Amino acid sequence: SQVPFAVNEPVRTYEPGSEEVKSLITTYKKMWKEKVEIPMVINGKEIKTADNVVMNSPQDHQHNLGFYHKGDMSHVDDAINSALAAREKWNNLGWEHRAAIFLKAADLIAGPYRDRLNAATMIAQSKNVHQAEIDAACEFIDFLRFNVEFMTEMYSEQPVSDSGVWNRSEYRPLEGFCFAVTPFNFTAISGNLPTCMAMMGNVVVWKPSDKQIYSAKVIMDVLTEAGLPAGVINMIFTDGKETAEKVLAHPDFAGLHFTGSTKVFQNLWKTMGDNIHTYKTYPRIVGETGGKDFIMVHPSANVEAVATAMVRGAFEYQGQKCSAASRAYVPQSLWNEVKEVMVAQMKTIKMGSPEDPSNFVNAVIDKNSFEKCKGYIERAEKSSDAKIVIGGKCDDSKGWFVEPTVIEASNPRYESVCEEIFGPILSVYVYEDKDWTATLKLVDETSPYSLTGAIFSQDRYAIDEAYKALENAAGNFYINDKPTGAVVGQQPFGGARASGTNDKAGSKMNLLRWVSVRSIKETF
Ligand code: ALA
Repeated sequence: SQVPFAVNEPVRTYEPGSEEVKSLITTYKKMWKEKVEIPMVINGKEIKTADNVVMNSPQDHQHNLGFYHKGDMSHVDDAINSALAAREKWNNLGWEHRAAIFLKAADLIAGPYRDRLNAATMIAQSKNVHQAEIDAACEFIDFLRFNVEFMTEMYSEQPVSDSGVWNRSEYRPLEGFCFAVTPFNFTAISGNLPTCMAMMGNVVVWKPSDKQIYSAKVIMDVLTEAGLPAGVINMIFTDGKETAEKVLAHPDFAGLHFTGSTKVFQNLWKTMGDNIHTYKTYPRIVGETGGKDFIMVHPSANVEAVATAMVRGAFEYQGQKCSAASRAYVPQSLWNEVKEVMVAQMKTIKMGSPEDPSNFVNAVIDKNSFEKCKGYIERAEKSSDAKIVIGGKCDDSKGWFVEPTVIEASNPRYESVCEEIFGPILSVYVYEDKDWTATLKLVDETSPYSLTGAIFSQDRYAIDEAYKALENAAGNFYINDKPTGAVVGQQPFGGARASGTNDKAGSKMNLLRWVSVRSIKETF
């Protein structure tokens, strides 16, 4: 009973004028007008409430996309109870049956649901065609298919046995229910967190970000069509803080799979600590949190490659990837050339709605994000420690549009070099070439995070020095490439320090967190 060997889903290129792009944009336009109504899903049933929350689009904050049904704490109780009621049957279903459901879900996204899931991601999360495709379609499909393969590999790992004895490992699901708290910025991550726990036989309460409810609904539709039994994943739209308090106070709470802010994750961990005597088992905790991802440039670097990495690494998806480059360290000897190529590339960038596939940059997710970016830009304009190299315009007349902006900081401790912004702002610190080694130390010490980072150099000794000096500074470390775009099965993704527990998404390491192994010794 071998599962199909997982290969990465080919990325559609959406060439201008192609059937693929026409079909996707037609779906986008249809969904834009649809006035969708999104219920919660508890115990396989659509749950509607009187609390209807209107959803707008980041690229047009006055445009009403429809609404979702917001739940209260009674729905959190219902979701937990529904998960617990489904637990016994789901725990004991053979892995082949679980695998079949998630493989079918991957096929549905690769085929009939692809446009709808991509379009929901474009509409409500403001991703362009290509960014939606690499996320909602390809990365999510890869998570599903690779995780099935990793699951079966894991199950086949068994201890040695002497004659007269048969030792076995039984990979049991966790005893209780799991809680998935998912972010707006990747539809794939949002889908992966609950599904990989469920794949390992667990039952789940899933609270997506309220900015990602549209694509979460499509994911739930796919899972239902793929045959996921009622109660295995329960999707609720409720107040985050209150929900967490309720879920984390439950004796059967068994695991948290989280992607979001450092502060929220730390608060959840603290609550779990406070409640530790309540639980039947020690809850598993997996979190991916903040980042302040770097590009470190050596004087031997290829200028063109550096400039391209800065533009793509910092500004794809408006800098809202957890992996996005947000600080770059460039040697004095290269800065003028790098700046010239970077500025030339940035002048070609178009900004606007994802409805036009040629718009490379779309809107930031909401008003808070817009105001935050604007604040950093305005303060940089006034600061004696910083100047704007290019960009800086903010326009909220229709959508939350922030022009890709490069800030050159003369002080390496300037706020935009150190703080997580989560928007299209790249800070550059120009160092003197002779300070290369000291600057490596600076890169390491500037931020508490350790998610992604890139080093650019053609000098093998310099690469080696950076490799060692930055060994704990990035969970995903790129040599001569941008720090974004990890591919499932190729660069397992996750960070350490304040960036998370580093249980790489889409890997066996991560799946192992969602099982509780029983060692069995049978003597003949
Ligand atoms: N997998 C995403 C990236 O690496 C987070 O950009």
